[in-house]
Order: sequence, then structure tokens, then C-alpha cells
Amino acid sequence: MTHPIRVGIVGCGEVAQVIHLPALRDLPDLFRVTALCDVSPVVIEAAIRQAPDAALFADYRQLVASDDVDVVLVANPNVYHAEVALAAMAAGKHVLIEKPFCVSLDEADRLIAAEKTSGVTVQVGFMRRHAPAFVEAVKMLAERRGDIILARVHDVIGPNAAIIDSTSNVTRAKDVPETVLEEGRRRMSEAALAAVGVGEGPKFMAYNLLLGLSSHDISAMRELIGMPKAVLSATQRNGGRVITASFDYGHFVCQFETAVDRIPHFDAHLEVVTPTEIIRIDYDTPYIRHLPAKLTVLSAHGAAGTSTDTSFPTRYDAFAVEWRDFHANVTERRTPKTSLADARQDLELFRDMIALMA
Ligand SMILES: NC(=O)c1ccc[n+]([C@@H]2O[C@H](COP(=O)([O-])OP(=O)(O)OC[C@H]3O[C@@H](n4cnc5c(N)ncnc54)[C@H](O)[C@@H]3O)[C@@H](O)[C@H]2O)c1
Repeated sequence: MTHPIRVGIVGCGEVAQVIHLPALRDLPDLFRVTALCDVSPVVIEAAIRQAPDAALFADYRQLVASDDVDVVLVANPNVYHAEVALAAMAAGKHVLIEKPFCVSLDEADRLIAAEKTSGVTVQVGFMRRHAPAFVEAVKMLAERRGDIILARVHDVIGPNAAIIDSTSNVTRAKDVPETVLEEGRRRMSEAALAAVGVGEGPKFMAYNLLLGLSSHDISAMRELIGMPKAVLSATQRNGGRVITASFDYGHFVCQFETAVDRIPHFDAHLEVVTPTEIIRIDYDTPYIRHLPAKLTVLSAHGAAGTSTDTSFPTRYDAFAVEWRDFHANVTERRTPKTSLADARQDLELFRDMIALMA
């Protein structure tokens, strides 16, 4: 392994330009971007401005085969994640794979099998779980899971583009031929049909929302309070853009709600109620860097009052911590907490949720 570790990026769109390339630039002792790949020449041209020494590839197969790449960041559209990660693993490259790591349990199992035989490190990009305030909340709750009486996971956001376009300079892939885009849509529809029995309509939209936004929420929920015993109920409304669910934890229920509206805002939190404390983690938009997740604890104060303590232990951007943890996992050969096997559990819950939706 060379130092700094050499990163190849497959998919140089919004998240790569606004988040990953700046995060990697801020960690020069740990990482160096040596290769970029995108099917859009316009996007590649924009991305190279943030990594002027990188080699450029139009085909990910060439990037993963490059001797100048140690790890591959998979940041192209969801439906292509599995094939890129499989190719990277086959080429002996470590992988940081954006969420959702794949779109079906079949793909998940193929990835997990390939990870075992390749011996490389594969980490799924759930940066919210690396946020220092979240890590603190996990520690707080580790001893108190038995005390929980109620939990809630809430994620209601508006159009990301409105926030991104007013704070960043992003080049989007407007030059990708319609045939390529259509191929991506067809593959996603077929994959969802095979995975959960819906390839179009509101439930298909809901599955995409679960894979995209909700994978953050559900994965954080699992680390904070564990894997639920079952999904009690799940609904989709408004063409699949609003989802609610109840998760059964035996001695308590966790309520889940998510929606995409037209207000340029970001309201994501997890809240855990015990008889003596309400513990809550709030996230702001990931597209404005260094906005820390916040931990708030409400408890009794005096005879008839309450006290609210809101804190965040550091200002480290969650993506920077994600990359630091990835570096440690690769160099120290540790299994990431956001492993493929861990993320597979989200897909199990999504399958059950879709099955319960009318
Ligand atoms: N962790 C997070 O909070 C977070 C935030 C945003 C996006 N994401 C994930 O990152 C991924 C990318 O999201 P985005 O918002 O940047 O999307 P995007 O559409 O802006 O960018 C995707 C890029 O991939 C390129 N592309 C398409 N097919 C390709 C292929 N076969 N090979 C190489 N490049 C290809 C497109 O031209 C485009 O530039 C998605 O999986 C998304 O879920 C994660």
C-alpha cells in the first residue's frame, strides 16, 4: 500500500464534486486522488480541476485495473454500484461504496461473497454513522437499550439541488446520451422488480426513496438501537415520496417517517425516549460542509423543570471522519462498522416494508 493511499473515483457527479473531492483534498497525508472516471466528458472536465494530476477514464474497468489506484470510491448511480465494486474487488482494490451499496439482496450476497474471497476492505458510505455526535449517542445508549420506551426516526427534506446550487459550483452530466440514461432507468426498474416485485409506480418510487435517503436513517437506527424484530406496518403516499413505518423492538416501537417536499430545507433526526432522558441526534444537509450533527439530551432538572443540553464534540465533517476511518480500516485491516453484511440488513427491512405497502 502506498502512502498516501491512491484513490480512483467512479462517478464524478454532485457528491464527488461537492463532498468527496474537497474532503480528500483536506486529508493530503492520507489520500491522493489519482484517477477519475465518468461517462460524461463535461463532468470529467469539471472534476479534474479538483484533482489536476489524476488520470481520466471513460470506462470504470480501466480505472479499477490501473496500477496507480489502491482504493476505488464508487459514486455513480445506484444501479451500477454492485458491478463496479465487484470489478474493483476482482482487481484487488479496496472499496468505499456510496449508499445504497446495491439494489437487491441477490447483489448484496454476490458482493459479500466476493469480499470474502478478495480479502480487500469494503466500506459502505454511511457518513452519518461517523458523525462525532452520533458516535457519542451510540456510546450513551449502549448500556440503556433495555430502558427505551419509544424511538423515532424522521427525515423530511426538500430539493437538494436548491441548496447545492446556491452554495456550490457543480457541473452536471447534461451531455450523457439519452440511450445511456434510458439503459440506467431500465436496469433499475428490472432490478427492483426482481428484488421487491415492483418496477414502476408509487411503490417503485418508494423503494428508490428507501434505497437513497432512508438507507442513511435505517442504518443509523440499527447502530443506535439495534435491528428491529419485525416491521409492524409500512405505508407510502404521494406517489411514493412519503413513507411511514413502525418497527417492533419488543419492549418498544420505533416510528419512522420520511418525505420529500419542495421547501429547501433538511430535517433529519433520530430520537430515543427513556423514562429519564430523551436523546436526540440532528443532522443538517451534507452538501454544506462542516455542519456538525448535534446531540441533544433532555432530562429532569429540579423538582418540576427540565434541562436541555445540546452539544457536538468536534467540528469534523462526517465525511472527513468517514474517510479517516476508512484509511484506518484499510491500513489496519479492520472490518468497517458499515460493512456490506451490516448494510445488507437495510435491504431486508426495505423488502419487508415494500411487502407491507398497499
Ligand atoms: N452519502 C451521501 O450523503 C450521498 C449524497 C449524495 C449522493 N450519494 C450517492 O452517491 C451516488 C452518486 O450520487 P450523485 O448525487 O453524485 O449523482 P450524480 O448523478 O450527480 O452523479 C453520478 C455521476 O455518475 C456518472 N455515471 C453514470 N453512469 C456511470 C458509469 N457507468 N460509469 C461512470 N460514471 C457514471 C454520471 O455521469 C454522473 O456524473 C449515488 O449512489 C448516491 O446515492 C450519497
